[in-house]
Amino acid sequence: MTENLEILKEEIAARLQAGADMTRKDLFDVKMEYLGKTGKISALSKGMRDVPAEERPALGKRINEVRVWAEETFAAKEEELKKKELAAKYSAERVDVTMPADFSGTGTQHPISIVKKEIIECFAGMGFEIYEGPEIEKDYYNFQALNIPADHPARDMQDTFFITEELLLRSQTSSGQIRVMENKKPPIKVLSPGRVYRSDSDATHSPMFHQMEGLVVDKGITLCDLKGILDVFAKKMFTSETKTRLRPSYFPFTEPSVEVDLSCHNCGGKGCRICKGTGWIEILGAGMVNRRVLENCGVDPDVYTGFAFGMGLERIAMIKFGINDMRYLFENDVRLLKQFRD
Ligand code: DAH
Repeated sequence: MTENLEILKEEIAARLQAGADMTRKDLFDVKMEYLGKTGKISALSKGMRDVPAEERPALGKRINEVRVWAEETFAAKEEELKKKELAAKYSAERVDVTMPADFSGTGTQHPISIVKKEIIECFAGMGFEIYEGPEIEKDYYNFQALNIPADHPARDMQDTFFITEELLLRSQTSSGQIRVMENKKPPIKVLSPGRVYRSDSDATHSPMFHQMEGLVVDKGITLCDLKGILDVFAKKMFTSETKTRLRPSYFPFTEPSVEVDLSCHNCGGKGCRICKGTGWIEILGAGMVNRRVLENCGVDPDVYTGFAFGMGLERIAMIKFGINDMRYLFENDVRLLKQFRD
């Protein structure tokens, strides 16, 4: 019996040594052959019945030792196979970081984003801060504080989306002027970009579009300061030859009010299809902040003066890039968008 035990041990050792390429499933099968319920080692334990009683304790102990040895041996082999498997998996899945990348192409900036960024850069260079106000706005900020009381005919200039009696989708970024002046004492030099909404839709109007508002308030600010700043802007945004022209206009929140034209960048002012033969292209509304608006915000109009301007980014983008229908800017057709690289 003891001899059989030694033979079993040798057999196990030999099979494991020979099984260098065995899988863990193979190993399990071999293990069951020896250590399973009906395995060879268990069979030896059962054979104890036929052994004389005085030999049983010693033999039992010996069988147990072999069982423990076998369990440990199989466990060690299992560990070894696991490591091998893992190493094989790692080498199969290795990533070659020196391989050329699979280039999936990058996106392009939307023309509105390009224009917005350029305008911000231009005015930031002149010391303007950026303020972004809420798109859902109170009637007070969008109209009343801007000197447009209820029933004022100027309300008809903008067909507004009302949410409640008091809340609306802002129809102009001019609302930001009030919010800024309520929170900051002059000197003020702010640029305020954002989306605005009006019930209007055709080749030159969209129900949602973008504006950029400017506001400067300090002691001694005049219309000349406005003209000077817009000259710098026009030259940076278009060409160094671009001139500006102010025409009298009307806005309730400015007095006097002006409309600002640029000399046509296409024909240089001679007159062409783009400027409809006039040599000038209108780009924004502006003026000296109405003293009533300053008063509404607690700014003393006898001490401070200011100018404001507001422009549509779609319009600037259309002029700058020669786009003749505003709807192109909202269709997100990649054939148009991929032409713009920043
Ligand atoms: N808010 C005006 C509009 O949407 C544009 C505008 C005109 C803004 C004159 C101004 C301004 O700040 O002074 O039509």
